[in-house]
Amino acid sequence: MDIQSTETKDLEKQVAAREAVKFIKNNDIVGLGTGSTAYFAIVEIAELVRNGLKIKGVPTSEHTAALATSLGIELLDMNEVNTIDVTIDGADEFDEQLNLIKGGGGALFREKIVASLTKKEIIIADAAKKVEKLGAFRVPVEVVPLALNYVLQELSKLNGVGTVRMKGNVPFISDNHNYIVDTDFGLIENAAFLSGSLNQIDGVLAHGLFVNLTSIVIMGKGSETVTYAKH
Ligand code: A5P
Repeated sequence: MDIQSTETKDLEKQVAAREAVKFIKNNDIVGLGTGSTAYFAIVEIAELVRNGLKIKGVPTSEHTAALATSLGIELLDMNEVNTIDVTIDGADEFDEQLNLIKGGGGALFREKIVASLTKKEIIIADAAKKVEKLGAFRVPVEVVPLALNYVLQELSKLNGVGTVRMKGNVPFISDNHNYIVDTDFGLIENAAFLSGSLNQIDGVLAHGLFVNLTSIVIMGKGSETVTYAKH
């Protein structure tokens, strides 16, 4: 990736984040996403908090919790809330039905619980994240380590080729102490069906297909934004 395209992507992430934080109201409980795009939203939220906005954040990863705390955002554990007013998170891919692949950073499980608790789930993305059909990005699947071999076989029955994510020479370990299996299903014809099938596999804690969890996607396009809403 050349420097120019990284700069363009960062600009797009930032303009999308600026647009997204406009949905936050005083006294809201706000889900805080994970990843390089959500980072821009957390920085914007921290700025609003410094200027007097009162919110409490629910982080989707240890990394986000540390970042938000360092920026002065007060946090709640997800077990302390019954609902979350608005969440701003990123995605690895999204389509026009607002289905997503998430989990490139390994935070998919907490992101999915937070999204499920959220009234308005806002996804922010640079323009490269928009696809016709999900699946060029491999679907991250969080797997309880002792069930790895079984899960890999079950994934292959769904025509998925799974690879354990590595960090150097050792498996990447999620915040929940599990493996992430990046799984190639090819282009996905029916995300809802595949999501349901993955949910049936014992040993799978969560997977990165997010179906019917998103309210809007705000995509940066150059210095402008394009908003996709549920239809
Ligand atoms: C974290 O596990 C992910 O779901 C991220 O939200 C997703 O990978 C997008 O990350 P970037 O904003 O860094 O592309």
